[in-house]
Amino acid sequence: MTETSILVLDEGTTSTRAMLFGRDGALHGVAQEELDQYYPQSGRVEHDAGEIWAKTLKCAQAMVDRAGGAGNIAAIGITNQRETVVAWDNSTGEPLTRAIVWQDRRTTPFCAELKGAGHESLVRKKTGLLLDPYFSGTKMRWMLDNVVEVRDAAERGRLAFGTIESWLIWKLTGGNTHICDASNASRTLLIALDGAGWDNELCDLFGVPRAALPKIVDCAGQLASTAPDILGCSIPICGMAGDQQAATIGQGCLSPGDTKATYGTGAFVLGNTGKSVPRSENRMLATVLYQLDGERCYALEGAVFVAGSLIKYLRDTLGLIESAEETEELASSIPDNGGVVVVPALSGLGAPHWLPEARGIISGLGFDTGRAHIARASLESMAHQTRDLANAFAADDAAWTSLRIDGGMAQNSWMAQDIADLLGLPVTRPAFVETTALGAAMLAAVGCGWHASLAEAVLAMIGETQTFEPAMEDSVRSQRIARWDAALAKV
Ligand code: G3P
Repeated sequence: MTETSILVLDEGTTSTRAMLFGRDGALHGVAQEELDQYYPQSGRVEHDAGEIWAKTLKCAQAMVDRAGGAGNIAAIGITNQRETVVAWDNSTGEPLTRAIVWQDRRTTPFCAELKGAGHESLVRKKTGLLLDPYFSGTKMRWMLDNVVEVRDAAERGRLAFGTIESWLIWKLTGGNTHICDASNASRTLLIALDGAGWDNELCDLFGVPRAALPKIVDCAGQLASTAPDILGCSIPICGMAGDQQAATIGQGCLSPGDTKATYGTGAFVLGNTGKSVPRSENRMLATVLYQLDGERCYALEGAVFVAGSLIKYLRDTLGLIESAEETEELASSIPDNGGVVVVPALSGLGAPHWLPEARGIISGLGFDTGRAHIARASLESMAHQTRDLANAFAADDAAWTSLRIDGGMAQNSWMAQDIADLLGLPVTRPAFVETTALGAAMLAAVGCGWHASLAEAVLAMIGETQTFEPAMEDSVRSQRIARWDAALAKV
């Protein structure tokens, strides 16, 4: 390989990957490792931060070798599952407990307590988020209250908290740098959307010591450098963003109104709202899309907790399908869903409902129901959840005129067409659906000086797209929606 590359570390919920990108956005290599998921109790989801680091490093090393050595890598971009909290000892660099994953619901009672005490309006106004266990702040507090090692480390001034990008940077720099980027910080409940640093009032409310938190930095620039012994020689880390923000950039959603939906473990819709802080009246989230030179661009977000994880559940837990790809064939093999509706509230419902205690439903079962119906209804639930978000965006004066989709699950063309049909809008899918990693590569490309702006990076690095036009009859759409709404009312 002769040209220099960008190395992206894409640390997701179910797997961690390293990818090599060329200057034109072409993918030159990928290494991937699955991550163990720990479910110690109902509603709890944990990761081993040591495993995340070891597997990320292994993948990164494989891509450095593919590039012909660290010297051929111009910069590293990092993107990550957001909200997941790691606590580590800042003198040993070792995790103090398992990471609490974004899907984890254990802080539901604490959120209810804060709501009951009347704190939600302040939290919403400042952070753009809600009092839901999804976000990092209450997870940090839970660790301080329940894990003796975390409390001890805090008392001895040795506690470091971070979201995943922060943890990876700490390890990549050999414990030299404790930073996080503004897009990830905006998911913690601990910053005001228009405030530069951690917010004292919020840190006090959630009982999180500021001393344990990283410094908040831009999403692109000379952010840090890897310690020389980690990957062969020192490589600059020049891009960093939460995975959904990175996907928004990777889809080229740089103008206000541009909207994307990523179907990964969960499904996340982000609409660019430009430089003014968005305010939702319909329980959407307001979030930092990116921060460059200290200036922020914002997005309105609808977060759906279950998407690809439903298909994984059908495959690994129920044994209903052998592979995720099979759902496309099964869905196409029957003329309709036979009256079956799947509401995938397997870990509560996110936007726009925000019901942490909700659980899933399969309704409309009859003796004629086969696995094809359940597979089809499962795929259809993606279009329904997306449509519920479309309605909430529209109620917030941010109606979509089209939707760009991506993520592993978006490769399913039956699902892509169903989303277009149910929304009644054109849906565009890039040929390269891994836009999360591409967005991180774009940020790193700007940060290392390959491009002067994100707009320039998008022009140079984005590939071809395919559009799905809506073709469903109104009567069919109305019947589908009525059945979905009826099933949703039962959760
Ligand atoms: O907010 C959670 C999100 O960042 C997880 O993304 O790609 O693992 O579904 P993903």
